[in-house]
Amino acid sequence: MTTAPIPATPENIEKAAALIRSGGLVAFPTETVYGLGCDAANGDAVAAVFEAKARPQFKPLIIHVADASAAAEFVVFNDTASTLAGAFWPGALTLILPRRTGCPVAELAAAGLETLAVRAPDHPVAQTLIRMTGRPIAAPSANRSGRISPTTARHVAADLGNACPMLLDGGRTPLGIESTVIDLCGRMPALLRPGAITEEEIAAHIGPLAPLAPLAKTMKKRSAIKYPGRRLPLRLDADFAGPGEALLAFGPEAPKGAANLSPTGDLRQAAANLFALLHDLDRPREFSAIAVMPVPDEGLGRAINDRLRRGRP
Ligand code: TXA
Ligand code: MG
Repeated sequence: MTTAPIPATPENIEKAAALIRSGGLVAFPTETVYGLGCDAANGDAVAAVFEAKARPQFKPLIIHVADASAAAEFVVFNDTASTLAGAFWPGALTLILPRRTGCPVAELAAAGLETLAVRAPDHPVAQTLIRMTGRPIAAPSANRSGRISPTTARHVAADLGNACPMLLDGGRTPLGIESTVIDLCGRMPALLRPGAITEEEIAAHIGPLAPLAPLAKTMKKRSAIKYPGRRLPLRLDADFAGPGEALLAFGPEAPKGAANLSPTGDLRQAAANLFALLHDLDRPREFSAIAVMPVPDEGLGRAINDRLRRGRP
């Protein structure tokens, strides 16, 4: 079974907006590539996006907003960000900025990072969908992990099958290449992903960029920034918490009252709770380690275990 694309009429966009508000997923066109969107503030919905993409790792997602003033509700702008948003938004430029305190975007959407990627897409369907939804929309490209980004609704349908319940067809995406990702959290603006807007175009507004940095490195660096006091080691595949250990439980067998990723053993719920519970339990004055009960290594469990094996959140 494959979800059939439906034309992106105002009525269908309204239906898509309602679906997103109720926690569902919608594939929709942007000017770059098709995105697989959900309510960025709904952790379960974000987990469902990772599940639909069958991604073995959690990667931070881009938060799609209508414009710069909407973005400023979620991230802290600096002068460079304002210049770039003024020059290129709406458009194919994604900015990485520090999250605001109290920002409602689910931790899973940013894979636990303290930064957020924001972008105001320049496509009438994406703009209408964002405005009708009234929420920030987290959306990776609407392809399965390891496949190329889709530029037509037919690509999305062929790749995601029925993993996405609604697919808005807005024709071929005009640019056909992903947005350029710029990290504005370091000393110098850095190009994280070359994309539809060239480095030269960007440099014309803000001067030279730091050289391309691999995401793995930035994520490490950012984690260090985000979790300065995060020290507790994780003990994996634990059946119980030893003396001085905090327990991160999973499933119905766990002791009552434990911090439980999912008391029913639901992997989507576990993914949605993962980063928040790791943060809660990271209390070095109280505990010496976090004992983590086994999580099945299937579906979303693979991404959860990948994150756990890499140690600190
Ligand atoms: O054109 C696009 O950007 C499309 C459309 C749908 O907007 N989206 C897209 O999303 O390509 P995705 O998930 O396939 O790629 C997002 C990129 C990834 O390279 C991710 O690592 C990076 O943005 N990214 C997101 N949040 C980040 C963060 N907080 N720090 C560093 N990189 C981040
Ligand atoms: Mg992608």
